[in-house]
Amino acid sequence: MSSERTVHVPVMVHEVLESLDLAPGLVIVDGTVGAGGHSRKILERMDPSCRLIGIDRDSEMLARAAQVVKGQNVFLVQGSYVELPRILHELGLDAVHRVLIDLGLSSDQLSDPDRGFGFATSGPLDMRFDPTQGISAAELLATADATELERILTEYGEEAAARKIASEITFLRKRGRSPQTADELLALLERLLGRGVPGKSHPATRVFQALRIAVNRELEQLEVFLTDVLPRTLSVGGRVLVITFHSLEDRLVKQAFREVERWENLTRKPIVPTPSEVRWNPRSRSAKLRVATLKERRP
Ligand SMILES: C[S@@+](CC[C@H](N)C(=O)[O-])C[C@H]1O[C@@H](n2cnc3c(N)ncnc32)[C@H](O)[C@@H]1O
Repeated sequence: MSSERTVHVPVMVHEVLESLDLAPGLVIVDGTVGAGGHSRKILERMDPSCRLIGIDRDSEMLARAAQVVKGQNVFLVQGSYVELPRILHELGLDAVHRVLIDLGLSSDQLSDPDRGFGFATSGPLDMRFDPTQGISAAELLATADATELERILTEYGEEAAARKIASEITFLRKRGRSPQTADELLALLERLLGRGVPGKSHPATRVFQALRIAVNRELEQLEVFLTDVLPRTLSVGGRVLVITFHSLEDRLVKQAFREVERWENLTRKPIVPTPSEVRWNPRSRSAKLRVATLKERRP
């Protein structure tokens, strides 16, 4: 997959570059480097005295990034952004000055038929950013009890039919017919929820989102990052930029930046894409960018 051209379009590039407030000598972290859309632009603008560290859980995305984000002062590392302290230690660094995380998944992952992220694909229902860790979405559907499945669909997908879907999945499982591929899950959901109406998001979208959030423990990772990892790794006066794509993530960022002894919140209201960006990149329509500087470092 990494030799193919990327189909991912980075969001709010202009707003990200402006908010990063680049200056010479900075250590900059792109904690979700993906195919390198943002990092590539940062690299074009940053002074040669800066260093850029790109992190991604997905080795296939890192291989894509490596094609466009390269140089003596670039370090690409596979891992989660919550592992930043270890990554810095291995690079012999103590603190960073700028951190960007652009959450969710890349359009390249969504359209990859072998990853199971998109309901328009027919591959195995995996959905892990790092397929070597944790359990796949198919395993989750085959093992979680109905109450847990209902919680996942309600909490992470805000799915009104969560109970009905959970009970159908556990019913099928007892007959050895738990969904194994993205199209099998889609067929089950269309049977229960219908196909939706043109111009509105497909009813399966919420379920696919919920399963992806659950298998990657996305909200837990974000919370640990904001409340524990960043206060230990950003320099005082250092900036963090977070781009979210749904209200569950945005709420965590808003709450973290409310801790006024630790953070100076630079975006009372989140920065959102311009109407013209939303027109040419509809995926950007739900993006929100929040920025804060660290006032006090945690030992
Ligand atoms: C929206 S894409 C980033 C796109 C990138 N900014 C660009 O312009 O090409 C999100 C990326 O974050 C990665 N990711 C998700 N959770 C992560 C985590 N906890 N740590 C590191 N990478 C993560 C995904 O694998 C995916 O490649």
